[in-house]
Amino acid sequence: MKVLLLGGGGREHALGWKLIQSPLLDRLISCPGNPGLATIGDVVDDVDPTDPEAIVHLCGAHGIDLVVVGPEAPLAAGVADALEASRIPVFGPTRAGARLESSKSFAKEIMASAGIPTAGSATFADRDAAVIHLERSSGPYVVKADGLAAGKGVLVTESLESAIDWVDDCLGGKFGDAGSSIVLEDYLSGPEVSLFYVCADGDAIPLQPARDYKRLLDGDEGPNTGGMGSFSPLEDIDDTLVDWTTTHVALPTLRELAARGIDYTGFLYIGLILTSDGPKVLEFNCRLGDPETEVLMPRMTSDLLAVLEAGASGGIADFDFSWSDRFAVNVVLAAPGYPDSPQAGLAITGIESFSDVHIFHAATRESDTGVETSGGRVLNIVGLGDTLSQARERAYGAAHQIDFEGKHFRTDIAEE
Ligand code: GLY
Repeated sequence: MKVLLLGGGGREHALGWKLIQSPLLDRLISCPGNPGLATIGDVVDDVDPTDPEAIVHLCGAHGIDLVVVGPEAPLAAGVADALEASRIPVFGPTRAGARLESSKSFAKEIMASAGIPTAGSATFADRDAAVIHLERSSGPYVVKADGLAAGKGVLVTESLESAIDWVDDCLGGKFGDAGSSIVLEDYLSGPEVSLFYVCADGDAIPLQPARDYKRLLDGDEGPNTGGMGSFSPLEDIDDTLVDWTTTHVALPTLRELAARGIDYTGFLYIGLILTSDGPKVLEFNCRLGDPETEVLMPRMTSDLLAVLEAGASGGIADFDFSWSDRFAVNVVLAAPGYPDSPQAGLAITGIESFSDVHIFHAATRESDTGVETSGGRVLNIVGLGDTLSQARERAYGAAHQIDFEGKHFRTDIAEE
């Protein structure tokens, strides 16, 4: 099978690494890929992965049998719609399904209609109405840009003034169209869990849970980022929560979408918070998590490609993923200036083979002198071990040895 993998971050490097282990795979092409993906397959970096026609053309030129979409942007741009119209198998939802992520207000509407527990919320395009709502609430305040903002459109703050400033930033264009309306949510507290499903034909097959760290600094301080680290499995979560989420969240969501004429095929990411009132949904995404995928792929022992191919053509009903018992811990190395203005062009040294460590590239590029930074989250350093602390030691051992000027990483990922 010839597979086209769209995307070029750490999630896609981890997905590509997993896909090439399948006996079904003949050739992997990534678009736009990254230097890590270039070591395990072919890379096409001169085609825009969010351009539906260009991707259909690329598939025709290379005889692609299956397209696997990593990030949300191609899905929100309608790449899966164009592929489906051209009868090219694709694992990823259509633009209508991707609204679960590309519109937070749509996701809230689906949850309300399907009776899914979530935080109370209200959507505003009018600044004054939003400010009145905030002034009538008690903090902490949760303000979210309605559209896609690469994980950076959310503010959680105790300060009414900062919340109002964020409303002004969003409605004032900080996130472009993504912030032209905002969602104000009730604040919820508790441990968070990321759950993922492979969905097709009304079925939802769970992956194992993972936990990520969204804030930039130790102790969950600093701004929200795309994610600074992750680990799996979670010792505080058992199958009961996964079963509950399948029954009370994943399947009702698929049914609600189907009732609206949306046949959802693709990954579904359910961000949960475990409150004292029970689990509630914080967010939906139409893709796998990043940096969670980087700890799940090394632990999955099933043939992922076989499942995605079956999903793209309908039938996954009886499938069950199998997993290794090992622990995986991912420490993200970020560029100085991340998340606001990460510095590109910094030479990276020390990328070598470490025992029981995977290095998944994210924002890197090749230069005349070697690999260098090209954006914010540069590398994912994933340690594996028989215990969480062993996996952690291995990840941090390599994270200290790999270097670039101004390298930043959290020191408390998977701390027990
Ligand atoms: N880990 C957060 C995300 O993928 O959106």
